[in-house]
Amino acid sequence: MVKAIDAFKEKKQTLGLVPTMGALHKGHLALVKKALKNNDKVVVSIFVNPTQFDNKEDLVKYPRTLEQDVALLRSVSEDAILVYAPTVEDVYAGNTVSETFDFDGLEFEMEGKFRIGHFDGVGTIVKRLFDIIKPDKAYFGEKDFQQLAIIKKLVEKHHIPVTIVPCPIYREPSGLAMSSRNTRLKPAYKEAAPFIYKTLETAKTLFGTKSANKVSQWVEKQFESHSLLKLEYFIIADASTLKTVKRKSNKKAYRAFIAVYADDIRLIDNIALN
Ligand code: PAJ
Repeated sequence: MVKAIDAFKEKKQTLGLVPTMGALHKGHLALVKKALKNNDKVVVSIFVNPTQFDNKEDLVKYPRTLEQDVALLRSVSEDAILVYAPTVEDVYAGNTVSETFDFDGLEFEMEGKFRIGHFDGVGTIVKRLFDIIKPDKAYFGEKDFQQLAIIKKLVEKHHIPVTIVPCPIYREPSGLAMSSRNTRLKPAYKEAAPFIYKTLETAKTLFGTKSANKVSQWVEKQFESHSLLKLEYFIIADASTLKTVKRKSNKKAYRAFIAVYADDIRLIDNIALN
C-alpha cells in the first residue's frame, strides 16, 4: 500500500480515503462514489477496529464480508479503487491499545457517555490511516455525526494536511438509516426499526414550536410504550459543540441524536432540526 501510494504521489495523482469497517452497503458506496468524483484514486480501508468497541460481543458479532465488499467496490470502479484491509497485527503490532485524545469535550457527549473509550479508539485508527495513506481528502458520513465532528477536531489539533468531506445520511426507502448492523436485525425488529426515523421527523416538526425539553419528553414517551425498541438516549444538541440544549436560540444550528436498542443491536441516527 505504501509503495502504491508513493507511486500515485509521484504522478501527482490526488487521493481520497474512505475509512470503513466493511460489510459495505449503499451508504458506504455513496461515500466512495463522491470520493471517486473528486480524486484520481480512492483508498477504501476495511478494518474492524477492536479498540473502538466497548462491547466484546458487538466486536465478535460485527459482520465481516470482505469478498462481497471487494465485489461491490469492483462494480463501482474497476481501476480507481484500492482496498486496504490490514490485520489487527498490521495496525497495532501486538499492542492493541488506544492513544488518549483531547477533543475539547466533544468526546464526553452522547456516544462518549455510553461507549467508554470509543472515540479514543476511533481517533487512534483514523490518525493511523491518515499516516499510512496520506490522503488529500477523507470522506465521513453524517450518520455518525459526532464521529465526524471528532475527526474534524483531530485534524485541526494535530495539523493533519487532509480535507474532511462530510456526506449526508443514506437511508432505506423505509427511512431507516443504512448500517452494517442492520443485517443482524431479525425480521420483526427490521420492521420496527423505521420507527426511529419517523420519531426523529416528528421531533423536528415539534421543535418548531416546543422547547427541547418538551420534545425530549415526547420522544421518551413514544418509546416507553414500544414493545421492541428500547431508547438509550434522545438528545437535542448544539450542532457545533454537541452540548445538550437548555434554551433555544435563533442563531444556532441544532440537531437531534438518538440511540436505540433493537433486541441486542444498537442503532443510532440523527437529524438536523433547523
Ligand atoms: P463504518 O460504520 O463502517 O462507517 C464507515 C463510514 O461510512 C463512516 O464515515 C460512516 O459515517 C459512514 N456511513 C455509515 N452508514 C452510513 C449511511 N447510512 N449514510 C452515510 N454514511 C454512512 O464509522 C466507522 O465505520 C468507523 O468508526 C471508522 C471511521 C471506519 C473507524 O474505524
